[in-house]
Amino acid sequence: MLEMISASYSYGGQPALRNASLKIEKGESVCLLGANGSGKSTMLKMINGLVFPDSGKCLFESKEISRKSMSDPRFAKAFYRKMGFVFQNVEAQLFCADVYDEVAFGLRQIGFDETEVRMKVEDALKLTGLLGFEKRAPYHLSGGEKKKVALAAVLASDPEVLSLDEPLNGLDPRTARWLCEFLQDQNAKGKTLIISTHNLELVQEMSRRAILFGEDHTIFADMPSMSLLDDIDMLKRANLVDEYYHKHQDSGHSHFHSHSVSGKPGADKG
Ligand SMILES: Nc1ncnc2c1ncn2[C@@H]1O[C@H](COP(=O)(O)OP(=O)(O)O)[C@@H](O)[C@H]1O
Ligand SMILES: [Mg+2]
Repeated sequence: MLEMISASYSYGGQPALRNASLKIEKGESVCLLGANGSGKSTMLKMINGLVFPDSGKCLFESKEISRKSMSDPRFAKAFYRKMGFVFQNVEAQLFCADVYDEVAFGLRQIGFDETEVRMKVEDALKLTGLLGFEKRAPYHLSGGEKKKVALAAVLASDPEVLSLDEPLNGLDPRTARWLCEFLQDQNAKGKTLIISTHNLELVQEMSRRAILFGEDHTIFADMPSMSLLDDIDMLKRANLVDEYYHKHQDSGHSHFHSHSVSGKPGADKG
């Protein structure tokens, strides 16, 4: 469904992503892992057609996603409809006066009539536990509620691919748990998931496949998330666990396996 071939990107000479090659199939759930600045957000932007490779290619359903292909409004519209992207900083994504309009915005852009809009907004609000929030101002909601509104807004137009940039950041444990289960459920319903995170404890729960970025902005490893936490040396090299942390664990990765976001040992095994 999605393919990158030696894709690179720099911000004004500052490399952000180097030589990235990967394929993501429809219905997969993939986590992007890496230290700050390693290139996760840049890859998500590229996948979502917000930046284009300086060299190499990015393909969606075998068609190149480039400045040129996106200059065809019909192609661009069809592409963006299939992609749903929740930014790391959701504040940047919310701009309407109330939650209803926020969730309705994309649907109106697509051209649904107000009856359809109302039905779809209601479905999305129900799905994200936001019924009753219609008249609330997104600006005044809590961080977790804002994230839910952004998620509802993205889901309302039923995208095929759901990308989330560090969605668990700043969420309390219960909301993080909710989101984790919610995303697993979306994946079970057929949505392709691409999630960036530093949260090693949640990677195994959210996806079978982990893509690890090195601090040199290259893909360092592409592996089953099950084996990720068994390779502490690799995680250290990617600056995802540090020496101090490692020394203070009884045995290697035991910490990751015995704690889940809910704090219940073994709750991630269900
Ligand atoms: N808008 C930008 N302008 C200049 N440099 C940027 C910009 N966004 C990201 N970078 C740089 O690109 C690199 C990769 O960033 P990013 O993709 O945001 O990493 P991550 O999401 O893994 O933290 C970093 O070195 C970062 O400083
Ligand atoms: Mg980032």
